[in-house]
Amino acid sequence: MDNKRTEIRRIIRDTKSLPTLPGVIAKLSSLADNHTISSQEMARVVNTDQVLSAKVLKLVNSAFYGFSGRVSTVSNALILLGVNVVKSLAISSSIFEIMEKNVVGLWEHSMGVAVAANVMAKRLKLPEPEETSTAALLHDIGKVIIKIKLEEDFNKLTAHINDKGLMMIEAERELLETDHAEIGEWLAQTWLLPEKLSEPIACHHNVERSVVHQTKTAVVHVADVLIKASAFGFSGDDVVPRIQPVAWKKLGLTEALLESIIEEVEGKLVEVKNFSLEVQAGDEPKA
Ligand SMILES: [Fe+2]
Ligand SMILES: [Fe+2]
Repeated sequence: MDNKRTEIRRIIRDTKSLPTLPGVIAKLSSLADNHTISSQEMARVVNTDQVLSAKVLKLVNSAFYGFSGRVSTVSNALILLGVNVVKSLAISSSIFEIMEKNVVGLWEHSMGVAVAANVMAKRLKLPEPEETSTAALLHDIGKVIIKIKLEEDFNKLTAHINDKGLMMIEAERELLETDHAEIGEWLAQTWLLPEKLSEPIACHHNVERSVVHQTKTAVVHVADVLIKASAFGFSGDDVVPRIQPVAWKKLGLTEALLESIIEEVEGKLVEVKNFSLEVQAGDEPKA
């Protein structure tokens, strides 16, 4: 008999069983692989889907990227964020539609981590802060798959976490023989996301394992810990892990620096909460 890990891997390999991504995303994926594509061509494709472009713009203008309200067109977004970020935003917006309604706590946790990662990346003057925010936004995507594809297991996990006071990842390893970081990695591979996004998703609970994009992974890890510590949103458990020494060292953090980053992030969380409420209120089903 197959074990749970194999079963989950099969679910992800069989893309038909995943939440349907609009056809335009498939088109985008093939375009993004072709490096000669102009951002105008890319914008044209996104613009063919009005709902999708509205969603991409909504995400771009949220607090996660620090352009609040300043990006009005998809072409603008592409120039500011690049093809890969916009592509993964388009993918995320489809997944988040499910998250917004079913797992509001996790959706808010993910947005909080994206904002914290953006603040940190900018404070530390790291390259590609937008990619880091996007990786942060997607870091717990594996949990969404568990929730929507393995509802029964998800409920068992919740009970196990409550009984034993575990972190979600520990409960997953005990019950599923895999965890949301690995599931997220499989998903990122299936969707052909670039390594700078898939590695932080795969390694945010084990920064040491990250080799190529350890800085981005470290930022996502620290941002995750900060948001859990501030009790914003709900990631699935209430345990606040320690910041891994390898991440602390990689980013050259100090207590004072972290304090001031936390202060800036706290100020932005009100904005994130409002954004979340707005999204939930605004996307009511029509019928
Ligand atoms: Fe996680
Ligand atoms: Fe998380």
